[in-house]
Amino acid sequence: MKRIYLDHAATTPLDERVLNAMQPFFWQKFGNASSVHSFGTEAREAVEKSRETVAKAINARPEEIYFTSGGTESDNIAILEIAYANRERGKHIVTSKIEHHAVEETCKFLEKDGFMASWLGVDKEGLVDLGEVGNAVTGKTILVSVMHANNEIGTIEPIVEIGKICREKGAFFHTDAVQSVGKEKIDVNKMNIDLLSSSAHKFYGPKGAGFLFVKEGTEIQPLMHGGGHERGLRSGTENVPGIVGLAAALEIAEKEREKENARERILAKKLLKGALGIENSWLNGPAIGPKRLSNNVNLGFDFVEGESMVLMLSDKGIAASTGSACSSKSLEPSHVLRAIGLPHVKCHGSLRFSLGRGTTAKDIDYVLGALPRIVEKLRKISPLRKGVDISEFEEDIEHVHGHEH
Ligand SMILES: Cc1ncc(COP(=O)(O)O)c(C=O)c1O
Repeated sequence: MKRIYLDHAATTPLDERVLNAMQPFFWQKFGNASSVHSFGTEAREAVEKSRETVAKAINARPEEIYFTSGGTESDNIAILEIAYANRERGKHIVTSKIEHHAVEETCKFLEKDGFMASWLGVDKEGLVDLGEVGNAVTGKTILVSVMHANNEIGTIEPIVEIGKICREKGAFFHTDAVQSVGKEKIDVNKMNIDLLSSSAHKFYGPKGAGFLFVKEGTEIQPLMHGGGHERGLRSGTENVPGIVGLAAALEIAEKEREKENARERILAKKLLKGALGIENSWLNGPAIGPKRLSNNVNLGFDFVEGESMVLMLSDKGIAASTGSACSSKSLEPSHVLRAIGLPHVKCHGSLRFSLGRGTTAKDIDYVLGALPRIVEKLRKISPLRKGVDISEFEEDIEHVHGHEH
């Protein structure tokens, strides 16, 4: 069966050029980067060259790049280390209601440990309000963590301005750029960023490799203790093939970024236009354009369950996702869709397509051929179909679930 992968926000395939760059470091150049012999120095040189490549891509200095195992680890290190190193100055952190769980859960953990978190709301496009950021940051605020681009609805946050507010008010600014690195131009200096998280498997690099940028002079306190790798911040033998792969993938992504974004944007528009031809459908998040990642199309369909759509699309060979719209266990609707003001029922009818380098116009045609029939089928068997008063139903659900923060 034909298989079409439209879930690049979840992960991307490894680029063959990246695989070629990594391969020698699995077996021929297998040394431990901490060893002093030639096997070790060979590995060390590769790690340091990779660090330079990464630093250049985001206009940082090599000493400001720390290799990690990915986005979740980078987010945890950034938030926890800033919090614990600066707790004497204040125990207040500011974050948004649409963060990835890696940030959200880390902030909730800190709340349980005596810190106070302010959760910024967003507008219907998913954008945080700069006035609200300014009001939330006080003399006691040690950290503001707002993501660069949202993984579910693709919203690109005004991080330059958020960073500026943080600078003025003396709070550190961390941004989770897991979805944007390799897709959006990043300049940590111009963007006033103190800490930035990234993960290689989102830009055609290997899984289990990521980096954290920490601006020089930022007070941090290591969480991992051991051999003092990564200048004491993240002990543990370096994942040399992963690091080499991350750097190679980032270099390629940076070179191809603009052209690829333009190509994906055309395909995204085509998908959107076709899908909106289905009645009672809508786009979640900002219009396709500068406020949205070029590859993200998050659609909603009334009277349909997103999870059922994902399964039926999968039967047709199409890989899409509900984002983290609802975990099959809890059936909780996406906190991101709730934050943009979508009622519970509509959250459940949402579906994310995320395009990538391999996506073609033919793929989009194929999806647009399959989608209307799937929606129609599901609507036929849906208890939410036309004629049922959704607003009444919604109240019941609201009553059961209550509002999220
Ligand atoms: C915005 C965002 N942050 C963090 C992560 C976690 O990254 P990783 O899978 O590398 O741990 C993801 C992954 O989906 C993400 O989209």
